[in-house]
Amino acid sequence: MIPQAFIQDLVARVDIVDLIQKYVPLKKAGANYQACCPFHSEKSPSFTVSPTKQFYHCFGCGAHGTAVGFLMEYAGFGFIDAIKDLAQQIGVAVPEEGPAFSGPSREQQRSLIDVMTDAAQYYRDQLKNSPRAVDYLKRRGLTGEIAARFGIGYAPNEWQGLADQFKQYDDEVLSEAGLVITNEAGRRYDRFRDRIMFPILDQRGNVIAFGGRVIDQGEPKYLNSPETPLFEKGRELYGLSQARIAIRETDTVIVVEGYMDVVALAQFGVGNAVATLGTATTPTHVQKLLRQASRLVFCFDGDKAGRKAARRGLDAALAHLADDKTVAFLFLPEEHDPDSYVREHGADAFQAAAQQATPLGRFLLDALAEECELGTAEGRAKLVHLAKESIPKVSAPVLRMQLVRELAHAAQLSPEETAQALGLAAPPKPPTGRFGDRKAPPPLPRAPVAPFVQKLLRLLLARPELGSRVPFDLLACLPETSERDAVIAIMDAGEDGQLIGASLGVWFEHFRDSACAPAIATAMRSIQEGLVNDDRVEDELTDTLRRLELLSLENEIKTLTGSLIRPEDQAYLQQLFAKKQKLKSGQPV
Ligand code: UTP
Ligand code: MN
Repeated sequence: MIPQAFIQDLVARVDIVDLIQKYVPLKKAGANYQACCPFHSEKSPSFTVSPTKQFYHCFGCGAHGTAVGFLMEYAGFGFIDAIKDLAQQIGVAVPEEGPAFSGPSREQQRSLIDVMTDAAQYYRDQLKNSPRAVDYLKRRGLTGEIAARFGIGYAPNEWQGLADQFKQYDDEVLSEAGLVITNEAGRRYDRFRDRIMFPILDQRGNVIAFGGRVIDQGEPKYLNSPETPLFEKGRELYGLSQARIAIRETDTVIVVEGYMDVVALAQFGVGNAVATLGTATTPTHVQKLLRQASRLVFCFDGDKAGRKAARRGLDAALAHLADDKTVAFLFLPEEHDPDSYVREHGADAFQAAAQQATPLGRFLLDALAEECELGTAEGRAKLVHLAKESIPKVSAPVLRMQLVRELAHAAQLSPEETAQALGLAAPPKPPTGRFGDRKAPPPLPRAPVAPFVQKLLRLLLARPELGSRVPFDLLACLPETSERDAVIAIMDAGEDGQLIGASLGVWFEHFRDSACAPAIATAMRSIQEGLVNDDRVEDELTDTLRRLELLSLENEIKTLTGSLIRPEDQAYLQQLFAKKQKLKSGQPV
C-alpha cells in the first residue's frame, strides 16, 4: 500500500499543466489552458486544464480528473503505475513498496524501447524492399494505409538481418529485447526471419514486442516475442494504443483472437478492437479494458476452441464486473473469424452482431445448464454446485443477485435457499453510520432536497473549511444519498485540518476509492463548469442551509401534525412553527 499522505503530497506537487502538456499541446486561455480533447475527436477545443484546481475537464465528453487520472485515462496506467510515473517525473521515491519490487530500471527500459523502435523501423523499411511480402499483404486485402497505421513490416529471410540496423549486433540488449537468439555454439541469429512483422505497442505508443506471421504456410504460424522486461503477455493487448480514441468514442471495446482480426476490423472502420497475444484473456486484461470502456465484447470464432476461449474470458471477467459495466460474448458462424466476417459481411453487420452479443449472465447460466440434466433433481443440484465456482466471484452486487435469482428459478429453489447453497449471505443491512442510535428526525423526501444537497456539496468542496457551519441535526435528516455521504466525508476530512487549503485535485484523489467518489466527481464537474461563484460561497452556503432547514422543519411539522399529537408535543410544535417563521423571514434562529 502506498500511504495516502504520499499520494496527496504527490498530487499537490505535480503540476497538471506540465504533465498534460507532454502529451497534448495546451494553449493558455484566461486562467486556464485549453486543447482539443484527447479523449474524443473534435474540431474546436473543449478540453480545459485548471492550474489552480489541478484538474482537467472536457466540456464535450465530460472526461475529467487529476494528474493521476490523466495518466490512467490517457496512457492507460493502473493507479499504482500512475503514482509511480508521477513520482518518477518529480524525482521522488514511492515509499513502502516492499522489497519485492525488482522491475527493470528506467534506463534499462529506455534502452530496450530504443532498440525495439529501431527494429520496427528496420522491418518497415524491409517491407518496401520485398515484393513477396507486399504481395502477401495485398492478397490478404490490406491497404497500404492500414499497414502503415499498424506499422506492419517484414523481417527478411536472413540469419543476421538486424546487423544492417544495429552496428553492434552482439550487444546484449538485442537478446534482452528478444530480437536475437544465441545458440549452443554461441552463434547469434535473428529470432524473426521471413515473417510479416506486427509491432506490439504499449499504451504510450512504444514498441515493446513483435508478432511475426509466416508468409503463407509454415510452423509456427505466429511467432511472438518472448516475455521481456518490457513485455508481459498477460497485461498487453495488441492494437490498444491505436484503438484508444475509438474505444472512448464508442465506450465499447471488442476483444478478438488475432492480429489480422484487429487490423481488418480497423480497415473496415471498426477501430475499437484489440487482441490478446496468443494467450487466454487474463483478469488484468479485463480490468485494463473495463477502465477504458463500459462495454466489453469478447468476439470468438464459432468453433469449439472459440467457446473454450470464451469460458476463459468469462472467468477472467467475473471479479472485475461492475453493475454499470457490461461484458458480452459474440460467437461468429463457425466458418468465420472477425477478419473474414467483416470482409464478407461488412462493418455494419459486424457492429450489429456485436450489439446483440450474449450478455455475460446469460452466457454463464447457459454454459452451466449445458452440463446438467435439469429434468432431474440430481441435475439441478449439480447446476447449483457448478455455479458455486463462478457466481460468488461476480463482483457486481446487483448482477450477482440477479444471477442468484435466475439460478434459483432453473434449480427450482427459492432465491434464499440458492444464496445459502452458494455460500452467499443475505444482503447485509445498511450500517447505521455516524448517526448511531440517536433518534433521528424524520428523513426528508429525496426529490425536493436533492438540488440543495448537491449545492451544499459543491460549496463545501469549493471551501471545505466551511464544513463546521453545517449543523449536525440537519445532516441527520437528509435522505441517505451519496451526496449526503460525500458532504459528511468532506466534513470528516476537513475536521483534522490536513486537507484544508489543498487544491481540488488533492481532494478528488483523497476520495478516489470511496463510495462518494462519483458524487464528488459530479460536484467537481459543476465547479469546473462555473456553477460556483468563488466570491459568494459563504452567502450561498448560508442560504442553502437555511433552505434545507426550512424544508426539514416543514417536514417535521407535517409528520407531527399528521399523527396524533400528545400533549407534551404541543409546545414543541409551537417552537417549530416559531422557528419556521423566523427562517422564512430571514432572521437568525
Ligand atoms: P489463428 O490461428 O486463429 O490465426 O490464431 P489468425 O489470427 O486467424 O491468423 P491468420 O488470419 O491466419 O493470419 C489466433 C491468434 O493466436 C495466436 C496469434 O496471436 C494469432 O493471431 N497464435 C496463433 C500464436 O501466437 N501462434 C500461432 O502459432 C498461432
Ligand atoms: Mn484469420
